[in-house]
This record gives sequence, C-alpha cells and structure tokens, in this order.
Amino acid sequence: MTAQTQTLRTVAGIVNSVETLEGAGFLVRRPFPKSSFSEFDPFLLLDELGPVQLKPGQAKGAPDHPHRGFETVTYILDGRLEHKDSVGNAGLLNPGDVQWMTAGAGVVHSEMPEAEFTRTGGRLHGLQLWVNLPRRDKMMPPRYQEISAAQIPVAQTDDGAVTVRVIAGEALGAKAVIETRTPIIYLHFTLQPGAAIAQPVPQNYNAFAYVLEGAGLFGSEQERGEDGQMIIFAQDGEEVTITNPVEAQQPFDFLLIAGVPLNEPVVRYGPFVMNTEAEIIQAIQDYQNGRMGQIHA
Ligand code: CO
Repeated sequence: MTAQTQTLRTVAGIVNSVETLEGAGFLVRRPFPKSSFSEFDPFLLLDELGPVQLKPGQAKGAPDHPHRGFETVTYILDGRLEHKDSVGNAGLLNPGDVQWMTAGAGVVHSEMPEAEFTRTGGRLHGLQLWVNLPRRDKMMPPRYQEISAAQIPVAQTDDGAVTVRVIAGEALGAKAVIETRTPIIYLHFTLQPGAAIAQPVPQNYNAFAYVLEGAGLFGSEQERGEDGQMIIFAQDGEEVTITNPVEAQQPFDFLLIAGVPLNEPVVRYGPFVMNTEAEIIQAIQDYQNGRMGQIHA
C-alpha cells in the first residue's frame, strides 16, 4: 500500500432507514435514532421527509413544539415550509434553503407546509438533522441562521461531473457561510455516472453519508449503499471516497455529514437533549411554566 491509500477511510456499517410518523402524521425515513442505534455523536437524529407527491390539502406539518439543548437543521429540496417561533421569528423555506436553528435554552416553534403549497399540493422533499450542543452552549440564547439557496456556496469540478452544495465546512475550494458551534461538515454532493470524490474529513470526526437518490460505492473497499441508507465511515483515515459507478443510469445524490464527537453524557427526552436527568426535569418544568415562550398568532 502507498501512503495515499492508507489515509482512506473504510466503511464501519450500513444502516437502513425506518419509516415513522412525525408531527401531525407525516411519514419520514429515519436512519437514526432507533432502538439499536440511538445517536452518532454529535448527531442525534436524521429525518428524510419524502420525496412524496402530495395531493391538494394533503400536506401536514409539526404544530407548536419546544426544543432545548441542541440544533435543528432543516434543508428543503422540494416544496415550501413555513415556520414561526416564540422569539418572534417567522419565515418561509423554499427549495434549496437551509434553516440552522440553535435552540439553546429553548424555543417553541411550528414547522408547517406553506398555505399555498398545501392548497395546490406538489412534490415535497426535505431533511432535518439534529446536532447536539456541547454542555457550554446548551443554555445559550436561541439563534437562527436562515440561508437562502442562492447564498449556499456551490462548487463544481471543471468537467461538471461533481457538484457540491456546501452547507457546513468546506469542499472543492468552497467554504460554508453558516457558522457552527463545534466543527461540522454538511455537504450535498451530486455525482454524474463515473464521477468520484475524495473529500478530506479529519480523522477525529465521526462521518456518515446518507443517500438521497441512486446508489454508489463507499470507502476504500467500495461498499455499495443506496437510496435511504446511511453509510457510516470508520475513524481510520483522513479522506472519504465515494464513487458513482460508470455503468450507473442516473446521477447519484447524497449528503456527507461529519463532526467532532462531544464525548459528553446525553440524556434525551423527546424534544429536549441535555447532559443530566435533572436538566431534563428542569426543561420539562420550564416548558410547562411557559419559560420557553409561546407562539403569538
Ligand atoms: Co422542531
């Protein structure tokens, strides 16, 4: 082996998504958490909403609910979502937009399909990632970063075979505009048939890919992963390699997500993620006593 190949990560495991109902009853595909796999430090959850073709009036959302102690990252690919919160923020997410919400000490928010989109129906596809906050940031004031599709840096190889949208971190010379509390990489790659990437990911980062469309070959041993699967890389190298086979019939679309593990105790109860049981009890009391606020119409 050459020094070069020794830096490539292998695949530690491949996880299938589980279908589950969220919010007011919409279907998501969730690779984690599940009973056998609760978290992937510093990540707590990934939900893929759709892709689904909705009839008029069919779209459902997540009405008022609280969060404390972590961040929710919403990335819309198709459809339109409206959100409102107890701090007075309100906005609309269009295709390609990202909302990176640092719940910190707590917000109550709603995430609903936009009224006009609900009326007409249409294709809905989105992702929500939960990123844990380190102990020192769990009670920070809530913060929003709302980044429109046009503001997300996009890079492409000269031959156009690889496109990457840089939500967090850096790829192909493009640097994210979103700030993270701890080092995070969140990249959306599209590979044409025959294209490959070798993305630097520091060895101390936990790293996984999630396939949105198509299938590809992962890691130094070229293991196959497809639509709806989460591919977990071992912490055994500084580069992640992913290929769309030359014989593929379609572009290959996936997320590459990585972060430095917090290595702190995790106690989670629904929408609250803290370090101790006592902090969870406090969060429930604060929510019940209205200390996370409420949404004003
Ligand atoms: Co929420």
